[in-house]
Amino acid sequence: MLSVSGIHKSFGGVLALAGASLDCAASEVVGLIGPNGAGKSTLVNAISGFLVPDQGMITLGGQPLQGRSPQEISAAGVARTFQNLRIFPDLTVRQNVEVALLRARRLNPDRAASLRTDDLLETFGLASRARETAGSLPYGTRRWMEIARAMATAPRILLLDEPAAGLNDEETERLHQVITLIRDRGDVGVVVIDHDLAFINNVCSRLFVMDQGRLIASGVPADVWRDPQVIEVYVGPGNRADTTEPIR
Ligand SMILES: Nc1ncnc2c1ncn2[C@@H]1O[C@H](COP(=O)(O)OP(=O)(O)OP(=O)(O)O)[C@@H](O)[C@H]1O
Ligand SMILES: [Mg+2]
Repeated sequence: MLSVSGIHKSFGGVLALAGASLDCAASEVVGLIGPNGAGKSTLVNAISGFLVPDQGMITLGGQPLQGRSPQEISAAGVARTFQNLRIFPDLTVRQNVEVALLRARRLNPDRAASLRTDDLLETFGLASRARETAGSLPYGTRRWMEIARAMATAPRILLLDEPAAGLNDEETERLHQVITLIRDRGDVGVVVIDHDLAFINNVCSRLFVMDQGRLIASGVPADVWRDPQVIEVYVGPGNRADTTEPIR
C-alpha cells in the first residue's frame, strides 16, 4: 500500500538519504532500523511531507505523495508521531485528542467522521486520565496520547518515530499491545523506527535496515540478522552503531 523507492535528500553537503526504500501493506508492522544518523527520521519526514525529497517515488495505494503538503499527505492517509513528542502540554488529554480529531475531520471528513474522542481515549487506555493536563502525565502515557492523536486522522499508514524511547519494560509491553491492536484492525499499516531491537523483533514481521542514507537489507527478522552488512553495522568489528549511542 505504501511504497517508497530510491529516495535521495541532501542538506547542504550532507547526503542524508542516498537511495532509501521501504514498503508496508495494510495490517502489517514493519521496522525501520539503523544506527544514529542513518536517515530514518529524514525518510519519515519525506514520506509525511515535512521535507521534499530531491529524488525518488513515494506512493500510497498507487497515488504519488511526493511534492504534496503535510496536510494533503495526512488527508491521503499517512499519520506520524515524532521522535520528540509534539503534544499540547497545557491542554487536557481529552482536549489533545479532540483537537487532533477536529483537525482530521476538516482535512478528511470521509474517513475521520465516524471516529469518536471517547473511543480513542478508551482504545488507548487514556479514559481514566482524560481530564489531566497532558504535561503532567507520565512519559509513557504521553506516548499513547500521541499515538491516539495520530490515529484520530483514521490513517492507512501510521509512522512511529522511536515510540519505545524512554519507556520502561511495562510501558514497552503496553506499546507492543497498542501496535498489535492497530495492526489487527486490518486496514492500517505501521512503520516503527526504534533502537530497542528486542521490541522491534517482537513487534515487526519485516525489517528495513538503513545505514548512511541507504537501505542495506530488508526481509523477515531472522534473515536480516544473518545479513553480513547488518552484522557489520550492529555487531561487527567496525560496529558503527555502538560507537555513536548504545543500542537500547
Ligand atoms: N534539517 C537538517 N539539516 C541538516 N542535516 C540534517 C537535517 N536533518 C537531518 N540531517 C542529517 O541527516 C542525517 C540523517 O539524520 P536522521 O535524523 O534522519 O537520522 P536517524 O536515522 O533518524 O538517526 P537517530 O537514530 O539518531 O534518530 C544525519 O547526518 C543528520 O545530521
Ligand atoms: Mg531519528
